[in-house]
Amino acid sequence: MENNSKNGTDALLKVSTLNCIDLSNLDIHQSVSLLKQACLDCGFFYVINHGISQEFMDEVFAQSKNLFHLPLNEKMKLLRNEKHRGYTPVLDELLDPDNQVHVGDYKEGYYIGVEVPEDDPDAEKPFYGPNVWPEDGVLPGWRQTMEKFHHEALEVAKAVARIIALALDLEVDFFHKPEMLGKPIATLRLLHYEGQVSNPSKGIYGAGAHSDYGLITLLATDDVMGLQICKNKDAKPQIWEYVAPIKGAFIVNLGDMLERWSNCIFKSTLHRVLGNGQERYSIAYFVEPNHDCLVECLPTCKSENNPPKFPPIRCATYLSQRYKDTHTDLSVYDKHQT
Ligand code: OGA
Ligand code: NI
Repeated sequence: MENNSKNGTDALLKVSTLNCIDLSNLDIHQSVSLLKQACLDCGFFYVINHGISQEFMDEVFAQSKNLFHLPLNEKMKLLRNEKHRGYTPVLDELLDPDNQVHVGDYKEGYYIGVEVPEDDPDAEKPFYGPNVWPEDGVLPGWRQTMEKFHHEALEVAKAVARIIALALDLEVDFFHKPEMLGKPIATLRLLHYEGQVSNPSKGIYGAGAHSDYGLITLLATDDVMGLQICKNKDAKPQIWEYVAPIKGAFIVNLGDMLERWSNCIFKSTLHRVLGNGQERYSIAYFVEPNHDCLVECLPTCKSENNPPKFPPIRCATYLSQRYKDTHTDLSVYDKHQT
């Protein structure tokens, strides 16, 4: 199964072995040690027994399919707004401009954030506001399913954040303060890869190489292989390994804010999605702290010999820039609006 593309697919079909954190494990030291090893090594691990039932996960996937099966003109009525809520069409996102020449990702998506009513003062914040919802007549029960998932996934993320805090020698609730996950920015993103065959040498990807922006991402996928990670982005050639889906598990990865927080001790690893011709669905849940949270080097991650590598930055400032760098300007879609 070898090919000779210059872009890193020349490796054999290699599947990564990731540590698995069992959230029902009462031996917290064991979980901390497994997680720490994963965060130092590649920033990716599985989480199982997380409390969200398989039955409910199946329902979320079924509702995600219902949305993407709508005709394009129906989906364009739900087009994402400047608050990053709603539908993102195929090619909307360009994650890896160096390698994705003139095209974007071959995926469509749907963003659902923290629901904040228009008349709430918090709705002025860039990542807070009302969501875009399909009408109940179009997709019955859809909003309820997604709101429930949003809520339950946040609890999973908080449980993982406790273990991360311990692994960084912080107090267990370090990330649970109001200015962090007490009032977080958390975004659910449904994704649909339409079955395009990726071709790295032509710059065609399901999702281009990127690292996530925030604290952590929880990812649920169907059973179609596609996600790849690159543990060393500076290696030439880059080595890409597949992450195999495990039924019922979340694949969890660390984001760039945690890398900054931890002074690069914990890794936010480059990853991408290659299409193999099969349709694929995944559900990402991006967890970031409060808008005003100052992401600055943790006390346990610096010393005289190892000073902070990054200046402190406000979460919302950082996140706004990252979205701007990777998403098509909304004015491109003006021709679709009536
Ligand atoms: C992402 C992402 C992977 C996937 O949305 O940031 O990396 O398998 N998704 O869809
Ligand atoms: Ni990602």
